[in-house]
Amino acid sequence: MARIDLDLAHSYLHEPQTDEDYALLPLKFTFEDGGAYALLGPSGCGKTTLLNCISGLLHPSQGTIVFDGADVTRATPQDRNIAQVFQFPVIYDTMTVGENLAFPLRNRGVPEAQVRERVGRVAEMLDLSGALERRASGLAADAKQKISLGRGLVRQDVSAILFDEPLTVIDPQLKWQLRRKLKEIHHEFRLTLIYVTHDQTEALTFADQVVVMSRGKAVQVGPADALFERPAHTFVGHFIGSPGMNFLPAIWRDGAIEIAGRRYLPALSPSVGQALQAAGSFRVGVRPEYLHLADDGDAQAVPVRVERAQDIGTYWLVTASVQEAGAQVGTLRARLGAAAAALRPGDTAWMSVFNRHTCYYVNEELVP
Ligand SMILES: Nc1ncnc2c1ncn2[C@@H]1O[C@H](COP(=O)(O)OP(=O)(O)OP(=O)(O)O)[C@@H](O)[C@H]1O
Ligand SMILES: [Mg+2]
Repeated sequence: MARIDLDLAHSYLHEPQTDEDYALLPLKFTFEDGGAYALLGPSGCGKTTLLNCISGLLHPSQGTIVFDGADVTRATPQDRNIAQVFQFPVIYDTMTVGENLAFPLRNRGVPEAQVRERVGRVAEMLDLSGALERRASGLAADAKQKISLGRGLVRQDVSAILFDEPLTVIDPQLKWQLRRKLKEIHHEFRLTLIYVTHDQTEALTFADQVVVMSRGKAVQVGPADALFERPAHTFVGHFIGSPGMNFLPAIWRDGAIEIAGRRYLPALSPSVGQALQAAGSFRVGVRPEYLHLADDGDAQAVPVRVERAQDIGTYWLVTASVQEAGAQVGTLRARLGAAAAALRPGDTAWMSVFNRHTCYYVNEELVP
């Protein structure tokens, strides 16, 4: 296993001019030895490009990639000793399941006794033990993808295992099981795992560290709770959570925060107060989970017009608009308890916005 240091940028164009020409903007990052990472972001943000730079399928147009102190920027995937599992299964139809799993080991001349032991182990983890003698050609797509995963996991000597959306072809129930399996496997073998997905649940349940990407940039790296509690960028606030974080436009006036014409004096650390004062205008971020109904006129609450209250089963999802002089200046989505059942579209309600979870954003960046 390896520690991987990246300091690179990549453009698919010969002569990139603007930031838009880069699939990956200059990025400096270290994947620690034995860590479980997810690369999370919307389609086209550069996840596969980054993964392929790490594996060596792609050479970055600028910068370096270092494995355990050795520069591998120009090295091939074979030299880097990486196992990669792709979105669609890559297996040999003419071989049996067992032969498929053994292939990466036999290919490297691993002694047969060791091959058997390893294949047995991996097959057991993936519930493939009963299918080892079967020919791979007749199997369903999800079984084939399990074999692909197994082939990625079977070698013990790899620097890292890279997964590019490997569970796309797998049905939801099995997906959940496999994700848990991968996590167990990671705990047992302490492999460096890098897992690409655009599904936040997948990323947050699988990885210790999630790299959130947006348009060629890593906008935040952190464990699930940090991404939830303290999104470093409004993009992360939007992208993580369901629904995402709410943002209300605010200004600093005469020593107070003003939202839609009302003044608020929430508890702020001196440094946050100074930053907001300096910025003048900013956004207040609060997650749907941390909004609650307040009494009319409550000092920490914003008056809203209820647009919709939906019973989601375990909670109510209330959508409300924030108005100033008859114009809508913002929207709040709140996860509320049974009290929300009484809300009707058009009602005025007060939602408490300021609490210890409230975040402040200047130019889309979190005020630390
Ligand atoms: N071979 C290529 N040639 C030119 N441009 C490419 C190539 N591959 C990707 N791109 C562009 O680079 C950017 C990043 O693409 P990439 O495939 O890395 O995104 P992704 O995050 O993996 O997306 P997805 O979730 O759809 O797989 C996109 O704008 C894409 O159009
Ligand atoms: Mg991709």
